[in-house]
Amino acid sequence: MIRSTPELEIDILHSRGAKGGSLSTAQNIHQKEIHVIYQFDTVIVGSGGAGLYAALEAGQKSKTAVLSKLYPIRSHTGAAQGGISAALGNVEEDKAEWHAFDTVKGGDYLVDQQAVRILAEEAIQAVYDLENRGLPFNRTPDGRIDQRRFGGHTRNFGEGPVRRACYAADRTGHMILQTLYQQCIKHNVAFFDEYQVIDLLLHGSTCNGVVVVELATGEIHTFVAKAVLFATGGFGRMFRITSNAYASTGDGPAVCARRGIPLEDMEFFQFHPTGIMGLGILITEAVRGEGGVLRNRDGERFMERYSPTLLDLAPRDIVSRAIITELRAGKGIRGDGKIDDYLHLDATGLGKEVLQSKLPDISSFCQTYLGIDPAASPIPVLPTAHYAMGGIPTDVHGRVLGDAKGTIVDGLYAAGECACISVHGANRLGTNSLLDLVVFGRRAGRHIADYVRQADLVMPGKDAADEARARIARLTDGGTGPHGGEITDEMQIVMMEKVGIYRNENDMRAAIAAIQALRERYQHVRVQDTGKSFNTDLLELIELGNMLDLCLVTATSAVARQESRGAHSREDFPDRDDGAWLKHTLAFLEQDAVRLDYKEVDTSIWKPKPRTY
Ligand code: FUM
Repeated sequence: MIRSTPELEIDILHSRGAKGGSLSTAQNIHQKEIHVIYQFDTVIVGSGGAGLYAALEAGQKSKTAVLSKLYPIRSHTGAAQGGISAALGNVEEDKAEWHAFDTVKGGDYLVDQQAVRILAEEAIQAVYDLENRGLPFNRTPDGRIDQRRFGGHTRNFGEGPVRRACYAADRTGHMILQTLYQQCIKHNVAFFDEYQVIDLLLHGSTCNGVVVVELATGEIHTFVAKAVLFATGGFGRMFRITSNAYASTGDGPAVCARRGIPLEDMEFFQFHPTGIMGLGILITEAVRGEGGVLRNRDGERFMERYSPTLLDLAPRDIVSRAIITELRAGKGIRGDGKIDDYLHLDATGLGKEVLQSKLPDISSFCQTYLGIDPAASPIPVLPTAHYAMGGIPTDVHGRVLGDAKGTIVDGLYAAGECACISVHGANRLGTNSLLDLVVFGRRAGRHIADYVRQADLVMPGKDAADEARARIARLTDGGTGPHGGEITDEMQIVMMEKVGIYRNENDMRAAIAAIQALRERYQHVRVQDTGKSFNTDLLELIELGNMLDLCLVTATSAVARQESRGAHSREDFPDRDDGAWLKHTLAFLEQDAVRLDYKEVDTSIWKPKPRTY
């Protein structure tokens, strides 16, 4: 591991975190800690696709460190299966303009359109750059990057599905991660693996570093930098059934929110229609892109009734709602009308050859988790919490915006799922998330490289890590308290049942009350494992605190938005209401309350229209 030369500081924690000044077990644990202050130009928090692409760009021009709570290639980008979209037109005619339009319409017009124009136009070069860096895309017979269909991607402004998703079997995200990590190693980016971020340092309105826990030792360190980029991914783990990795706990947005940074459009959380029943593990939309079909208990291809043009390849919010509607109508495979019933994804028509060559991971997941061969039997599926459209507000260079006026927080950047630019609006199209993190991770990295050249490094004061240290000291003070695992379970059930696919005022108010009660209980939780090395008990409690804060922000933003738009579907307000609600939410976490503000949506290219497919 390459490290910057640290300025060592021995910090003996006499009585920090102590109650009444007497020495507790935790104080003994914390005595004679080594607090290292690392100094870099650029610190990237998170090592998924966005973080790695930003590091690759910034790292070639500035001293750059990537901090990750995981080993980088275990990041959740690796779970993205089906593809990355770009209007290459390799197998049929396609245009960046069509791609941009589909993205705006798919996002139910809550999308900033100039940002989407950049996304769609830069997609093409971004994919070729990945190819040139070594990504092993599937090929057409004449050797070009192959492309397949995905939900909501159409030709000529909605005429029918288009082949726009470039793919490496059903391991596209995994391949992006491998490619970018190898490039970062080649370019001498410094990696600090298994470091968990716990605080953000701000000097006035300028960011100058982060505070972290080194998981191997339990020690708290400070990284001082001219620029910090958060690329910590999503927070699907706040829901009971999710496709997200255990690490998707929203650490970046939560840390930022506690430091006064607003979070944008948090009410919009996408459910992917096809998770493995009961487990939530993703069965890629590429199964439907290759010809798979959703069927109810009568064997009916029910999407014909919900989306006559795009059928099974309608956007995810529409397909997920259709599935719940079928289940409620007793059309699930069990037929009991309960929403934990399931439907079938029928891939038997694809044949063994296509499944093996284009969807090998799916075939093996079905074998491992369900004991079935998808070439012979339909796959039992249910919607699974998949993607946060909301997050840390940024401009198209990844610079974090501190308010509704767009004031830039100097030195602070965000990219990937933890950010909100906003290119996904109220509902993201499949394959646009890999694209987002490549295009905007790269743009942020380039902007950072220029920014740090002219910015001064502001050294934090001696007490900069005190708040973070006090938080950890409380969790590890040797006391006893409620069990974090029980709070996690309750949080996930509340969010799944009351802030899920269909929402209403009563449920969401009940969810807010429940989350507030869980946050209160969280104040008394303590780690039960008092070891210092790889204390996963401590890590999980830090993550739980982050998710509870984000649950509160999500539910509060959701109850306020009295309309249905994209993934935010209210039974008590079933229509989209552009007059009142064509605006982005900005939520400020203020201790135990959430203050809401709003800002305009950029509709400079296409005026909002009713969304039909
Ligand atoms: O279905 C999938 O392969 C997921 C892709 C995505 O979320 O973009």
